[in-house]
Amino acid sequence: THQWRGIIEEYRDRLPVTDSTPIVSLREGGTPLVPAQVLSERTGCAVHLKVEGANPTGSFKDRGMTMAITRAKEEGAKAVICASTGNTSASAAAYAVRAGMVSAVLVPEGKIALGKMGQALVHGAKILQVAGNFDDCLDLARALSDNYPVALVNSVNPVRIEGQKTAAFEIVDMLGDAPDIHVLPVGNAGNITAYWKGYREYAADGPATRTPRMWGYQASGSAPIVRGEVVKDPSTVATAIRIGNPASWSYALAARDESGGHIDEVTDREILRAYRLLAAQEGVFVEPASAASVAGLLKAAEQGKVDPGQTIVCTVTGNGLKDPDWAVAGAPQPVTVPVDSAVAAERLGLA
Ligand code: F0G
Repeated sequence: THQWRGIIEEYRDRLPVTDSTPIVSLREGGTPLVPAQVLSERTGCAVHLKVEGANPTGSFKDRGMTMAITRAKEEGAKAVICASTGNTSASAAAYAVRAGMVSAVLVPEGKIALGKMGQALVHGAKILQVAGNFDDCLDLARALSDNYPVALVNSVNPVRIEGQKTAAFEIVDMLGDAPDIHVLPVGNAGNITAYWKGYREYAADGPATRTPRMWGYQASGSAPIVRGEVVKDPSTVATAIRIGNPASWSYALAARDESGGHIDEVTDREILRAYRLLAAQEGVFVEPASAASVAGLLKAAEQGKVDPGQTIVCTVTGNGLKDPDWAVAGAPQPVTVPVDSAVAAERLGLA
């Protein structure tokens, strides 16, 4: 009887729904805010991880998708479409199933993680691999939704942002106020936009006394906001944020500037180092793109930009199981042993 009811029921008064709205939910949100011991030691701050991989389809996208599919259902849509680097498509496919709708997803050919492709397939999405990057997929999805009876559920749909802002509410509800700094990866820039909206709303009418500084991190090979220009051929191991022309670019700049924050870049090497640290030293397995937030925090700390004593939240956006290749790559192969405890003990270094 005490199960978390999903973000729409939990934050109904702060979301654009009415009593007659047909809510489509997988009980998303209510994700753990985990104290990060090693990161706290390294920075001299109280660092927390908002573990969004604990959502029903394994990423923060579910917060926006419950709203987007609910709205599409309310408007009588029979089909939804999205462009995706993987997580949005997995989420759209699952929520479309719940709503009894058809989902269509457009993904960049060869550039989405296997787990995400598997999710879209098993949920019965119609998938097209596009010979282009995410930005091309989004252009195509917009054109299709403009000209055919199919609702666009990318974060250019404003109700996606409404759903995703609830993560900021949860953090304030847990901590008792907004943190000093909020760190997150930036791809299409919807999520930084959503968090900033959530923090501002909570500071404007009660639950929080202040807003955090927003620190966003792009991958160096896909860092249009940092460079100040579109990146035509984005590249990074963090395929989820391999985006050269973010749709919410101007909102990300507003979040940065209004909050007194920054948007910087981290290299693939820094991303993978943070990815391994999170798994091996914090016990939290995330996908590479998610580690960009933590890589950014570590980089800022090394540059002396993190004053001790602050409260910092890093959003880790997606579950590591979605893209296990990077966990296996470079790790030693497990040895095979006979069913023999003496041999097993010896191989484990116990004997
Ligand atoms: N982290 C993960 C795991 C993501 O999947 C994404 C975006 C981001 C971070 C960046 O968030 O776009 O709001 O700035 N994934 C989208 C997708 C693009 O299609 O799944 P953003």
